[in-house]
Amino acid sequence: MTCHAVVLIPGDGIGPEVVEAVVRVVNATGVAIDWRRAEAGAAAAARNGTALPESTIDAVRAAGVAFKGPTATPIGGGFASANVALRRALDLYANLRPVRSQEGVPTRYQDVDLVVVRENTEDLYSGIEHIVVPGVVESLKIITERASTRIAEFAFAYAEREGRQRVTAVHKANIMKMSDGLFLDCCRRVARAHPAIAYDEIIVDACCMRLVENPRRFDVLLLENLYGDIVSDLCAGLVGGLGLVPGANLGDTCAVFEAVHGSAPDIAGKGAANPTACLRSASLMLRHLREPEAALRIDRAIDRVLAGGGPRTPDLGGDATTTRYVDALIAAL
Ligand code: NAI
Repeated sequence: MTCHAVVLIPGDGIGPEVVEAVVRVVNATGVAIDWRRAEAGAAAAARNGTALPESTIDAVRAAGVAFKGPTATPIGGGFASANVALRRALDLYANLRPVRSQEGVPTRYQDVDLVVVRENTEDLYSGIEHIVVPGVVESLKIITERASTRIAEFAFAYAEREGRQRVTAVHKANIMKMSDGLFLDCCRRVARAHPAIAYDEIIVDACCMRLVENPRRFDVLLLENLYGDIVSDLCAGLVGGLGLVPGANLGDTCAVFEAVHGSAPDIAGKGAANPTACLRSASLMLRHLREPEAALRIDRAIDRVLAGGGPRTPDLGGDATTTRYVDALIAAL
C-alpha cells in the first residue's frame, strides 16, 4: 500500500477543528497518509514573526501535496496574507471550486452544478500599493498574457476532461479595457483551440445577477483573481453556504487543498464548524493522490448523512457539534 506524504496546515479560528475532522475521516477510509504538520497564519505569525515560515513552503515543496485549514489575515494593515504568499511561492496558479447543490440541504435552487476557475497569482492580489500623495493611494492590478493564457488553458482542459459543455469568461473589460481586455483576448485565443467546448463572456456585475436569477445556466466560470474570490462566496450562498464548498489550489508541481471559507472567528472553539467543505476538499485531494475509491466513499458518506436527515451543524439548521457530525460520517463510510 502506498503511503502518501501530505503537509497538514491547521491554520486559525475553526481551522484546527475542521482539519482534525479531515484527518479522522481520511484515516477512517484506510488510505495511508503521512500527515506532516506545518504552520501558517496568524498564530504562526505571533509565534515566528512570519505568517508563512520558510519551513512550511519547503515542506509543501518536498511533499507536493498539502491540506490547509483557513488562515486569518488582519484587515487594513498588519502582516500580508499567508494564502496569497503560499499560492505565489508555489505558483499554484489555478484555484478550482466545484459548487454543487447538496441533497438534504434546502435552498432556493436545486441542481446547481457549476465550477469556479479562479486565477490565483496576480490581479489586485499582487499587493502592490503605495501612497501617491497623502490622501491618494494607488493599488496596481497586474494582468499578464502568461497567467491569463495559463488559467484559460486550465479551464478548457478541465472542461474537456470532466465532460463539461461550456466555459464562460467573466470580466469588466467595458471599464478596464486594457487589463480585462488582455484577459479576454487570451481566453478567446484558447477557446478557438478548443472548439468542442462552447465559449461565452459576461460582465461580472451581470454575472452576479444572472447567478442569483438562475445558477443552472452556468457551467465553468473562468475569472481573474478578485472576481473569482467574490463570485466564489456568492456561489457558496446558492448551495447552502460556506460550510459546503471545497477548493483546490493547483500548480504544475504542487497542490494545496482547502475550503473556500475563512477562519470563521465568530464560531471558533464552539464545536459548531461545518467540516463538509474541508471534507469535500479532502475528497478532491484523494482523487489527486489517485485514491478515487476513498474519495467516493467520503462523498457518499456526506450525501447519505445529509440527504438522509442525519445530524448536521447549526449553519445547516441542525444542532450537531462538529464531532457528532463527523462520528455520523465515519459510521456511514
Ligand atoms: P469566513 O468565511 O471565515 O466567515 C464568513 C461567515 O461564514 C461567518 O459567519 C462564519 O461563521 C461562516 N462560516 C464560514 N465557514 C464556516 C463553516 N465551515 N461552518 C460554519 N460556518 C462557517 O469569512 P470572514 O469572516 O470574512 O473571514 C475571517 C478570516 O478568514 C479573515 O481573517 C480572512 O482573511 C480569512 N480568510 C481565509 C481564507 C483562507 O485561508 N483560505 C479564505 C477567506 C477568508
